Amino acid sequence: MKQKDKYEIISEMAKRRGYFWPSYEIYGGISGFLTFGPLGSLLKKRLEDKFRRFYLQPLAILEIETSVIMPGNVLEASGHVENFKEPTVECTKCQRKFRADHLLQEFGKMTDTETEKLTLQDIMDELKNRNIRCPECGGTFSKAEQFMTMFATTIGPYSDSVGYGRPEAAQGIFVEFKRIFESARGRLPLGVAQIGRVLRNEISPRQGPIRLREFTIIDIEFFLDPEDKKCLVLKEVENETLRLVLAENKMKDNTEPVTVTVKEAVSKGIIKEEWQAYFMALAKRFLVELGVPEEQQRFIEKLEWERAHYSVQGFDQEVYLERWGWTEVSGHNYRTDYDLSRHMKASGVDLTAFKESESGGRRFVPHVIEPSFGLDRLVYVALEYAYTKRNKRTLLSLSRDLAPIQMSVFPLVNKDGLLEKADEVYHRLTNEGFTVDWDSSGSIGRRYARADEVGTPLGITIDYTTLEDGTVTLRDRDSWKQVRSNIDNLPDLLHAYFRNKIDFEDLGQLIERRKDG
Ligand code: GLY
Repeated sequence: MKQKDKYEIISEMAKRRGYFWPSYEIYGGISGFLTFGPLGSLLKKRLEDKFRRFYLQPLAILEIETSVIMPGNVLEASGHVENFKEPTVECTKCQRKFRADHLLQEFGKMTDTETEKLTLQDIMDELKNRNIRCPECGGTFSKAEQFMTMFATTIGPYSDSVGYGRPEAAQGIFVEFKRIFESARGRLPLGVAQIGRVLRNEISPRQGPIRLREFTIIDIEFFLDPEDKKCLVLKEVENETLRLVLAENKMKDNTEPVTVTVKEAVSKGIIKEEWQAYFMALAKRFLVELGVPEEQQRFIEKLEWERAHYSVQGFDQEVYLERWGWTEVSGHNYRTDYDLSRHMKASGVDLTAFKESESGGRRFVPHVIEPSFGLDRLVYVALEYAYTKRNKRTLLSLSRDLAPIQMSVFPLVNKDGLLEKADEVYHRLTNEGFTVDWDSSGSIGRRYARADEVGTPLGITIDYTTLEDGTVTLRDRDSWKQVRSNIDNLPDLLHAYFRNKIDFEDLGQLIERRKDG
């Protein structure tokens, strides 16, 4: 029997236990849409909060929320109507449409660097030369065309009032820049973030949670004075190492990463903007915190024809996934003043900043460095990297701040007053703000296994000794070690444990010391 890969194992567990599954299953399903179940939506929220703590709060980056539907003229001004397109071909036999560059990569062994450059005619020639046929029916292809991957709609009852589902959250920030900037009293640099749903009408997505037609993006637009682009906090990350696949090497078919410190990357001009290097270092650290070791990460520099239309230097952060190989999790682009200038021109509204100087003053359009993350992918990445086996059992080793359920309460048996005691403990803990599960069915061993499978860090077992002396057993997911603690001490201990102040070993020692004292 073929061995299941991690994606298959995690997907099965995710469906069974409520992490995620393909949407609209009862109607046969439709690819590119994902439903996060009770555990998945909790994990996603925790990841989002971790991102805020890690990435947004230390830099006082402001968060906003703008609408998903955007009027056509906004996306015309931004260049998306013209550029947000992918090449498709149609099978002459079954009339199915496919994304042409993906066919050439999957069946023609071409790299994305090669396919990005092709014209529609080149695509037809390459498909023919490489003898690539329809993967569904074996037919040949015709009609290469550019397909716009934004979802179009009309706004209200007027068919000429075109709107689109936003393909990125960034545009909401650019069009509202004037008010945000004023409310921030004109400070620069100024970081503005938006975490929200975006829509991309992908042509034939077949990669589960990795390629979605509707997903959550984290876009950060970091506005700078173009004459003062120094990053004052670069020192904090200057010795961090980055594995970079450089454009000049890619041109020579060399995708071996070079490892450089942030300091070197900036001083040698490999990463042109200091803030871009800073955000890349943070992105690396964030992924390490999600469980992805350094050697399973890399940043790949985009060649001129691979870059988005607004970018002058761009790197994609990629992590290695068992099924899909190197997979993008974040993009880092220097967008210059492209977006603000285009909106200024199209709307006629002044979006400049003003700086006093000795010679009077200077008006300028701020420049933008953009780190951008796909949140749903990060959820999957965290799950794949947390997946381990112990004694043939699945164990999700999610960090304490990500685990959707923090602890499970287990009454050892359903009689002799243990249920009532467990209920009391359960409520005490939920009142403290913990996310607690309750599991009273089956043997205690099976219940521990169920909790390990979804990554619950602690088990709290109520047994006959609890009734005698008011202590419970605490069980650690990763080591399976157990200690006993008094119920009254639990809230303090558990707060310290979930704030990462102490680990399980310390917890045991603290309990011992309290007993002695
Ligand atoms: N705003 C980043 C992106 O569209 O990928």
